[in-house]
Amino acid sequence: MGKEERFENLLSEFHRIPFEERQERLAKWCDLDPQELQILRGVNALPIETAEHFIENVIGVFPMPMGVATYFNIDGKDLLIPMAVEETSIIAAVSATAKWIRKMNGKITTETRGNLIIGQVQIPRVRDLELAVQRLMARKTELIQVANSIVPGLVARGGGVKDLLFRSLPREDQNGTMLVIHVLCDPKDAMGANLINQVCEGLKPEIEMITEEKVGLCILSNLVDGKLTYARVEISGIDPEVGFGIQEAAQFAKTDPYRASTHNKGVLNGIDPTLIATGNDWRAVEAGVHAFAARSGKYQPVTDWHFDGTTLVGEFLAPLAVGTVGGVTMLHPTARLALKILGVQNAEGLARILAATGLVQNLGALKALATVGIVKGHMRLHAANLAMAAGASERELPLLREELSTALAREKRISLSRAKEILEAIRSTEKPIHFN
Ligand code: MEV
Repeated sequence: MGKEERFENLLSEFHRIPFEERQERLAKWCDLDPQELQILRGVNALPIETAEHFIENVIGVFPMPMGVATYFNIDGKDLLIPMAVEETSIIAAVSATAKWIRKMNGKITTETRGNLIIGQVQIPRVRDLELAVQRLMARKTELIQVANSIVPGLVARGGGVKDLLFRSLPREDQNGTMLVIHVLCDPKDAMGANLINQVCEGLKPEIEMITEEKVGLCILSNLVDGKLTYARVEISGIDPEVGFGIQEAAQFAKTDPYRASTHNKGVLNGIDPTLIATGNDWRAVEAGVHAFAARSGKYQPVTDWHFDGTTLVGEFLAPLAVGTVGGVTMLHPTARLALKILGVQNAEGLARILAATGLVQNLGALKALATVGIVKGHMRLHAANLAMAAGASERELPLLREELSTALAREKRISLSRAKEILEAIRSTEKPIHFN
């Protein structure tokens, strides 16, 4: 059996089969042992002793469902993408969209643009801008050497500080000029926050000595525009109503920041869950994506869609500074497993998968919004949550869910109070009842 065929078999009825069987299939596909399957069940998923090393004041751990997005083929490789998320419809929607792309013979491709993260060393109110820059330029090579001596391990891995940039900025309070030195560093497979912060602080005395100016803040920038990730989806043979609808939805986001915000939230729905699953700093990525979206001065969508009458092309471009070493990634048992399931070799590979997942998640949302609306898909799964929240017992759950779906189809809305009402009606009758 070919690899593609095996992937299709792995996924057949994947969301319907019992949990045990899903784990069995996963174990075969990703070569997981029984202990790893136990970790996925939550047993020693994050031992308290490990949690105690991560943060202070530990009082427990916070469990969250982790699923896999299915049907993805990125850059020619079939993948299961682990996502830790509480929002009901995210995995269902992204998997259905990836399945649609596959059925339509669409292509998902990705690339990385640049490899440099940014650290900032600030001189808040520079006395002599020209002289300070002149002196720094003259000693640039030496400064880069000093910077690299702070991170010898990174340099040995082929990374390290590659360049310095000098930016003069008129202060917002119009009280002089700020000089900001950008330290550009290749962090290799680390997200790089700790590395670059150490480098910036380490450079402070040297910069003060060279410039005879006073340094203020030394800290990384989350607007990592020297290391962008790009993803592209191309699908031919699209129904014009759907294609033009998606293009029009992108137009709305480009025109109106109120819509762009929601549009980008939908993109991040496909990114944050895998950041969480792999133990990455999702706040840093969020900050970077939003700052990048606003770089022109107007908040813009981070994806765009074009339709020429038959072919739909979507593109994603944003900074996704992630790591596969450092941070908690390798220390968190579940995060380690998530990386194993993904099968990524390095940070670049992870960022490229994230970009693709964000773009496909966005496509799913826009396709629904431009056609049937979002409520239908959302609510079908939300109905299951409402059935539980209404207090249905294990025995009552299937019936209440069914009744809620019927009510949803008919009434076009459901709520917790309606779920409770239906549950009461179920309890007051022996037989399942249908509501007219
Ligand atoms: C909901 O979590 C995300 C959406 O609002 C995204 C969008 O509107 O594009 C559906």
